[in-house]
Amino acid sequence: MDLAIALDSRLPQPLHQQIYEELRRAILTGRLLPRQKIPSTRSLAKSLGISRTTVTQSYEQLLSEGYLQTIVGSGTYVCAQLPDDLLHSVPVDDSGLMVEKLANSYEERIRMVYVTPSHQFPTGSTLSLPRRLELLLWAQQHDALILEDDYDSEYRYGDRPIPALQGLDQSDCVIYIGTFSKVLFPSLRIGYLVVPPHLVSLFAQVKWLSDRQLPTLEQKVLAEFIADGYLESHIRKMRSLYDQRRQVLVQALNTHFGEQVTIFGENAGIHIMVKFDTHLSDETIIERAERVGVGLMSARSSYLNSWSQGEFIFGYAELDEIQIQEGISRLAQAFN
Ligand SMILES: Cc1ncc(COP(=O)(O)O)c(C=O)c1O
Repeated sequence: MDLAIALDSRLPQPLHQQIYEELRRAILTGRLLPRQKIPSTRSLAKSLGISRTTVTQSYEQLLSEGYLQTIVGSGTYVCAQLPDDLLHSVPVDDSGLMVEKLANSYEERIRMVYVTPSHQFPTGSTLSLPRRLELLLWAQQHDALILEDDYDSEYRYGDRPIPALQGLDQSDCVIYIGTFSKVLFPSLRIGYLVVPPHLVSLFAQVKWLSDRQLPTLEQKVLAEFIADGYLESHIRKMRSLYDQRRQVLVQALNTHFGEQVTIFGENAGIHIMVKFDTHLSDETIIERAERVGVGLMSARSSYLNSWSQGEFIFGYAELDEIQIQEGISRLAQAFN
């Protein structure tokens, strides 16, 4: 069987990620059907002319996410019940998730809503206070849980932060997730949960079953770092630094692209989403950008079903002002 996977070693995504995305897309669009057998890692690696480890890595991700299943002694198959059958996407506007679209709009009962209220990923819109209250009321009325992923809430520019859903919650329906990946660094691999009292023992049991290798030393150092006030002053310093980089990026985009560009989510976080008004395909834009030394990340993989052409995610935390200006200027040339 030929899977016809197009790999491009010039793209910023590693090959295993490209295979993962191609297969996931093939499954979701019905090009590969439930219960259909797919090639072994060995034969796919051979037909693509790449290492088997690379193919195994992408298969393992699809297996762990429930898109594929292995039957011992038989092979690898597309899962009969796909995880996306159980997922619904809810539209988002400038005020974040449109709660009215949740209300009674799905046949089966919704048990959990996943939101990134401080800075919706990737559009960057902030869930407004009225919407937060509306969402909490909806969850309470429908006996549903809210998973609040507050991954970059520490960075808010200009206006004051809106209280977290967790802080507004009166009926113990919010599970709050925080991370130190954005305020310190991702390789620290430390995050935290704030769980309603009635779920604490359940979460503790699941944690105990799934993983017992806690980074004790790192946690102790981090706890001292926080207690001594270093985290707070670090965040304050970085907020002002990122604010400057953000302003430089927004200004450079407006200068070079003018009417051709729309910027989303610039009030918070450490990335913006940019929509280019262009006839060029995303692949052409990425390829041309690559040629002038600019890596671009499409917003496409953030969509569950259909996506919009010309949308890209621009992270600006790790680039200085000169690099940002230079990068956008080169990108503008690449468009012409
Ligand atoms: C939507 C979202 N949630 C959470 C995270 C943080 O994940 P982790 O704590 O595993 O680094 C990120 C990081 O980019 C993110 O984009």
